[in-house]
Amino acid sequence: MAIVILRNDDLIPRWKAALQKAAPDIPVYGMGEEVPPGEIAMAAVWKHPPGSLERFPNLRGIHCLGAGVDFILEDPQIPESLPVMRVVDPFLASDMAEYVLAQILASLKGLHRYKTEQGRGIWAPKPYQRMGDLTVGIMGLGTLGQAVSELLLKAGLACVGWTRQSSPEVAFPTFRGPAERDTFLGRSDVLVCLLPMTPKTRGILDYALMQHLPEGALLINVARGPLLVDADLIRALDEGLLSGACLDVFHTEPLPASHPFWKHPLVHMTPHVASVSDPESVAPQIAENYRRLLSGQPLKNRVSRELGY
Ligand code: GLV
Repeated sequence: MAIVILRNDDLIPRWKAALQKAAPDIPVYGMGEEVPPGEIAMAAVWKHPPGSLERFPNLRGIHCLGAGVDFILEDPQIPESLPVMRVVDPFLASDMAEYVLAQILASLKGLHRYKTEQGRGIWAPKPYQRMGDLTVGIMGLGTLGQAVSELLLKAGLACVGWTRQSSPEVAFPTFRGPAERDTFLGRSDVLVCLLPMTPKTRGILDYALMQHLPEGALLINVARGPLLVDADLIRALDEGLLSGACLDVFHTEPLPASHPFWKHPLVHMTPHVASVSDPESVAPQIAENYRRLLSGQPLKNRVSRELGY
């Protein structure tokens, strides 16, 4: 039996090399190679082309090559009985934490604005804030949300957290469910969204939510694009409800050239790079889950279909 890697980018050779290094005894095929369909027991996927999983009659499991599995659960061709696993990796967590801290500092010290003003030849010093002046609200306290909070606390920022269901044990105030959401929002000078993308969270970052943030709050979305209602963000920015938005994820990626975010002065975009799976670091857990799958042992980081993450 073997693993097949299915991705829509040019990283298949790197993932294949990392898997072969981590487990030289496991046969690995990349999409595009001559794959023996009956031999594939596990597909390791990242935004696989539609229908590409149907070819493998003996598939026993799907391993996501990243943390967020929304694109797998949304694929109607994948039988619900097939186990889905996701990546939990220390670099994925620390890279995300570093990215969020960098965006908060860039905003706090006016770096986004000064870069734009430099391009226009404007010299306009403004008062600045200090880290101790801010509370960061983190929506979603899974592995990534907790890693972000740890770094922010270490850096001297105050945090509050919000989860839809259960709150983990953390060293800062947390709020839970719809009833406590607006109290949480009211304390979030910066709102960091790290919620998983599920039918229940789609569109959660809407105008109604933004109205509960302190005036001039900063929004950072590093989760998934469809959590945000794009038109509502533009309205909130244009009305001064928010002072800026740092977006790493979008409804459509790459973001279409005609999208208003490209030119909006208060939208600071990066091309889905906040935290990207490192093949060499992640390959051993995929190999381990492959062995567990074949020997019938419990899988690591198995996704709950019911919860959607
Ligand atoms: C990146 O977006 C991931 O889900 O790992």
